[in-house]
Amino acid sequence: MTEWEHVDRYLERLLVPPLDRFDATGLPPHEVTPLQGRLLELLARVVDARSILELGTLGGYSTIWLARGLREGGRLVTLEVSPEYARVAQQNIERAGFAEVADVRVGPALETLATLDGPFDLVFVDADKRSNPDYLGEAVRLSRPGTLIVADNVVRSGAVADQDADDPSVAGVQRFLELVAEHPRLDATAIQTVGSKGWDGFALALVS
Ligand code: DHB
Ligand code: MG
Repeated sequence: MTEWEHVDRYLERLLVPPLDRFDATGLPPHEVTPLQGRLLELLARVVDARSILELGTLGGYSTIWLARGLREGGRLVTLEVSPEYARVAQQNIERAGFAEVADVRVGPALETLATLDGPFDLVFVDADKRSNPDYLGEAVRLSRPGTLIVADNVVRSGAVADQDADDPSVAGVQRFLELVAEHPRLDATAIQTVGSKGWDGFALALVS
């Protein structure tokens, strides 16, 4: 176990209520960590979210954390391209008691996004990274002043700072961050993280 994992375990035990019966069978290991999931819940509570949009459901782990942070009576829409992952997510969401709250939509995110109306109070961008520039445009379109946009995986073991990167996922994250930086309605930061998923980071952008 790395020191980062060791510390994650310690902090998780102290601070993070476990999500019981979550099934990640057959999923790539890309879910947020428990500590990161808890951060998403707290961010949803800080913005007093009544409506949350998530791009990239995977098995629904972050979805459940976000749903926990949603206001009573709120709604959450989560977009997943894989029918298989969406089925696993639906089961996990039902088991966690959020079937009435979370709406899992299957299909390419950009197609589903075009059918949605905002505003959402919080948007979590965690789907395929190469489409992040397009996702940012849709996230802002579906926002109101005060919406918080959170993006996962903006550091990617440091690759984000490599100007010669030819990985389309890295290029997608770089372009996303440039667009955030130059957007007149966004104030943003990015925080590097280490932990049981290695070295990565979150970007946070507040819409004005
Ligand atoms: C990948 C995607 C993620 O959302 C993540 O958190 C980690 C890795 C990936 O596609 O490699
Ligand atoms: Mg991610």
